[in-house]
Amino acid sequence: MSEAIVLGIESTCDETAAAIVRGRTLVSNVVASSMQEHARYGGVIPEIASRAHAEAFVPVVSKALADANMDLSDVDAIAVSAGPGLAGCLAVGVSGAKALAWAANKPIYGINHVIGHIAVTQLQFGDVPEDVLALIVSGGHTSLLHVNDIAKSIDVVGTTLDDAAGECFDKVARLLGFPYPGGPHIDRHGRLGNPNTLKVPQGLTQGRSGKEHPYDFSFSGVKTAVARWVEAREAQGLEIPVDDVCASLANSVAEVLSRKAMMGCEQYGSKTLMIGGGFSANSQLREHLLACGKEHGIEVRLPELKLCTDNGAMVAMLGVNLVEAGVRPSAPDFAIDSAMPLTTVSL
Ligand code: KG4
Ligand code: ZN
Repeated sequence: MSEAIVLGIESTCDETAAAIVRGRTLVSNVVASSMQEHARYGGVIPEIASRAHAEAFVPVVSKALADANMDLSDVDAIAVSAGPGLAGCLAVGVSGAKALAWAANKPIYGINHVIGHIAVTQLQFGDVPEDVLALIVSGGHTSLLHVNDIAKSIDVVGTTLDDAAGECFDKVARLLGFPYPGGPHIDRHGRLGNPNTLKVPQGLTQGRSGKEHPYDFSFSGVKTAVARWVEAREAQGLEIPVDDVCASLANSVAEVLSRKAMMGCEQYGSKTLMIGGGFSANSQLREHLLACGKEHGIEVRLPELKLCTDNGAMVAMLGVNLVEAGVRPSAPDFAIDSAMPLTTVSL
């Protein structure tokens, strides 16, 4: 069989994206972001994001096809993120993708965006081995997954009981006065600071709660702890060493994520750990994971930076997996699922 060609479409949050993947090759990749329009509000405004998707949809998809030197008749299937994400945003991408599928008489797959974040590693590293673990760290998710079969079967090993790591960074960033999204600012400043300046709480790692939740995460105490530390300095009339605060935060979060992921790999006998989601762009996490992987003899598959944050390549790649596995396409009237569970790969 010749390699499957899939057009992937993404609109879960503030990126409108489309890409073409053939087999394991990224043929074209176009991303338009409305991030700048949200910055002054301190977070994504769903209505503004939905409108931006409606404006960007046709130009972005057209460019992805043009860059690939293709038209719709050349693709074997269309894949679109059907969840989880912002309902209005998902509705734009899914409606547009359905219209294209109907017009070109192509099968359509409504896929899970989060699983796409993991699937994208295949563009760099080749096929996902069977029965491996994946760490997903996006704006809304921090979970350790057991991937039996990327197209069909995934279960959750552990997850955050409160905030996601990305969310925690965004909250601390706001406290320190950085614009949305704050994650990249903490990363940049953290590279310059001393990681041992303040002790950042590491939830669910010690004592009974650590034993009961070996693979779960908790980051809700982090923001409060940092806020208290900053307030205490201010009360004493001392300057806030922003670089050091960022370094302490980034180092602590990277340590917890890496340690629990490695423990999971040992427990499950997984020699490979796949990483996915916007937070996997974080340099401290990348360094920690690679160092821990080396120490434990586990291959860590990190997406290249441009494929960490939301994009169409991840959607198209998962679409190729579904076509190859012979998974039935989604019904033409499938609905979006803004709270799609991580165990659902496609609808
Ligand atoms: O996966 P993503 O693009 O969107 C969701 O599906 O949620 O992830 C966005 C998240 C935001 O919280 C953003 O602050 C974080 O990824 N992020 C980073 C970095 N780049 C993006 N966090 C820390 N360091 C970075 N370099
Ligand atoms: Zn994402």
